[in-house]
Amino acid sequence: MTLKFIVMSDLHLVPEGELSMTLDTGTRLEAAVDAVVARYGDADFCVLAGDLADLGQPAAYERLQKIIARLPIPVFITLGNHDDRSTFFDVFGAHYAAETGKVDKVIDARGYRVILLDSSEPGRVDGVLEANQIEWLMARLAEAADRPVIVILHHNANALHINSDSIRILEPDAFVEALKTHPDVRQVIAGHVHLTSTASYRGLPFTTLAGGHYSVSFNVDQPQVPFRRLKGPGQMAVVIGTEDRTTVLFEDFIDGNEEIVIVEEAVEILEEVA
Ligand SMILES: [Fe+2]
Repeated sequence: MTLKFIVMSDLHLVPEGELSMTLDTGTRLEAAVDAVVARYGDADFCVLAGDLADLGQPAAYERLQKIIARLPIPVFITLGNHDDRSTFFDVFGAHYAAETGKVDKVIDARGYRVILLDSSEPGRVDGVLEANQIEWLMARLAEAADRPVIVILHHNANALHINSDSIRILEPDAFVEALKTHPDVRQVIAGHVHLTSTASYRGLPFTTLAGGHYSVSFNVDQPQVPFRRLKGPGQMAVVIGTEDRTTVLFEDFIDGNEEIVIVEEAVEILEEVA
């Protein structure tokens, strides 16, 4: 009995005809969907781990609905800091709200329990898990008994020695303590940082995927140095779970790491020089 699922994150969709950071994020999501159709039609489901819409517009969520309708497997969703929860509910339906009021979800499949947590908080870029979500998480972990658990949320809880450490889940203690009430947390997977990483944090395994938008060229432990944005990869994660092994593979559906040059800024710099 093998669990297999896809995680996509940081889609940053915009209405048709618009770009985000010079990138056509709709076309990039189409490429990700093409990859799933071509190679992962046998997966159990796909998770979208937040930052679905770049600016939270209704037209971006409607476009998302249209593009993911092509996925041959069930899709489960949680939100990120770029999302607008009420607009998301307007387009996708209020049934996406858990008892917590946020877009949390439990998926039981092939001996595993997968838990999605909505770490977005209106008006904030960093991540927040409310007290009622921590309670909800602990109840869902207790129900899982000794089954292996994978947790997926938008924000990373662990600092990564990069600029965006200031916008992670800044108060992760209650979250980590809740996770530790379960004997077999196999992975905690996040997006948000637009970067691939793995870490062990307080004895638990944490992973981030680069996602579908730009990728970050980081500066280790130099928060004053601005990061550069790279056009690729466009990346999704493939998670494979057996009884004794949980594997996360990273599939780059768009290659390349050319730097993004924002033309408006370049024009301003030229004007300043002139
Ligand atoms: Fe993002």
